[in-house]
Amino acid sequence: MMTHTSPIPGVTELVDVVRDTPEVVIELDRVRRNIAHMAEITRDAGVAFRPHIKTHKMPQIAWMQLRAGARGVQTAKLGEAEVMRDAGITDILVGYPIVGRSKLARLAHLAEDAQVTVSLDSYDAAAAISRTLVGSGVAVRIVVEIDTGMQRIGVAPGSTAADLAERVAVLPSLDFAGILTHEGHVCYQARDHVERKEMTEAACQSMLDSAEEIRLRGLDCDLVSAGSTGTARFAVRCPGITEVRAGAYVFNDGSQLLQGAACEDDLAAFVVATVVSRPNHEWFVIDAGSKVLGADRLIVRDPPTTFGSIWGRPNWRIVRLSEEHGVVQTPPGEAVSIGERLLVVPNHICPAINLAETVAVFENHVTERWPVAARGRVQ
Ligand SMILES: Cc1ncc(COP(=O)(O)O)c(C=O)c1O
Repeated sequence: MMTHTSPIPGVTELVDVVRDTPEVVIELDRVRRNIAHMAEITRDAGVAFRPHIKTHKMPQIAWMQLRAGARGVQTAKLGEAEVMRDAGITDILVGYPIVGRSKLARLAHLAEDAQVTVSLDSYDAAAAISRTLVGSGVAVRIVVEIDTGMQRIGVAPGSTAADLAERVAVLPSLDFAGILTHEGHVCYQARDHVERKEMTEAACQSMLDSAEEIRLRGLDCDLVSAGSTGTARFAVRCPGITEVRAGAYVFNDGSQLLQGAACEDDLAAFVVATVVSRPNHEWFVIDAGSKVLGADRLIVRDPPTTFGSIWGRPNWRIVRLSEEHGVVQTPPGEAVSIGERLLVVPNHICPAINLAETVAVFENHVTERWPVAARGRVQ
């Protein structure tokens, strides 16, 4: 279990700066540090970096990442991509198949203003994009998504991936650019650091084998992209991986701590909550439930039942969530008072940010509020 023991500069200020609770607060110096650290890891390895903006959904932070050297951004949804385009960002990977007439029309429009890459895992999805774009003078880059073990989306590595690449590459108005994977299963399944490294290397190896097979068919396969916060530091050391992507690293959360991908000093986003009820000596209730924290469990093998932890209180666990209530279990007799403010470390920061209209930005004791511009952009 995580323990919050290291001093966090400004922690008292973080609970005090917000006008009201529950509210998400981000610590800008830590955000900058996390961005700089990932930029350094990738730059030193000579690998391009593309942050997934679904974690923060804020153009201000996307621009901080770009200024630190990121080649472009990744979004999950077209709606997020449109927000980034409107903020002047011109290199956008939509890491999600675009399916359906309305989305195809929006994609064509997006591609007029930005260099757009789409990942997909079916010929049908590629052919529909090609039909939409043909004659428009606009082209979209396509990357074939490969399932390296997550069992979510993606074709099998090797000849199956190469077969799809071959069929996509001849479609008009599409530029076949390479292959992509999200090796998220490593974070869900690995028991320790050694296993994380080995599993990442195995995922990267099947990407390299697939790229080789594609090249043997006479195609260029310049982009070989792997990505997640927990695996980035291993993936950059696999020769042949040309790009890594990560999202959660910018804020980190309880899952990244347990995965060993971050330490307490890397936590850059919290939820400030208030104790609103102490019905007995075993638990109390905070004003942050699933509509604030999200309801995800910890993203690790055999996750303990907790819906978030309380900074500085390793023995307190958020054991239940209703929409507006977080039930925090304490050892009997621990002192807690109604009205007390607490700093919550969410299990998974991405849904928590998506639920917030704005975040309080803490920097040098000055707080402003940034809108979460792409929140709720799920289409
Ligand atoms: C396709 C894809 N790429 C990259 C990422 C980034 O992963 P992380 O947030 O662990 O860095 C995700 C996260 O869900 C993803 O789904």
